[in-house]
Amino acid sequence: MAEELKINAGSKEEKYQELLPQIQAVVEGETDMIANMANVASMLHETFGFWWTGFYRVQTSAAPMGQRGAVLLLGPFQGPLACTRIQKGRGVCGTAWERGETVIVPDVDVFPGHIACSSLSRSEIVVPIWKGDEVIAVLDIDSKELATFDEIDQRYLEELVSLL
Ligand code: SME
Repeated sequence: MAEELKINAGSKEEKYQELLPQIQAVVEGETDMIANMANVASMLHETFGFWWTGFYRVQTSAAPMGQRGAVLLLGPFQGPLACTRIQKGRGVCGTAWERGETVIVPDVDVFPGHIACSSLSRSEIVVPIWKGDEVIAVLDIDSKELATFDEIDQRYLEELVSLL
């Protein structure tokens, strides 16, 4: 595995092109999903300087007291303290999980039901992670700037999570 992350200055697309093979090298030597999510959160966070970068995993046994069914439970992340459980269909994460598709939010203040873990988050992207025909987790990235994420992020992040 790579010993140290190496990313040259360049466009966002160039950075993703340098980052992806290094992520592949790290995850292909490890079968534990939590360990791999931890390293991926770190590598993405370090490369782009996002505000919050992390994972929520679908857990069937983790519904809050008195509620049934699966929830998204906080997994490995980099950045400030975050909420731990998110219901299906709630917030950007729960919406991406329910729809089974990437959700890009250019301005979180106008996304109905956005869950503000940090009042400094301004834009967000959430990418579902599939195993077979089921979403098993989501990758969530928050930025302190408006409209940080576009179809370039979507394309590379969808490719990135397929490596997990
Ligand atoms: N904003 C997310 C919640 C998770 S935090 O951003 C880390 C949402 O609306 O689902």
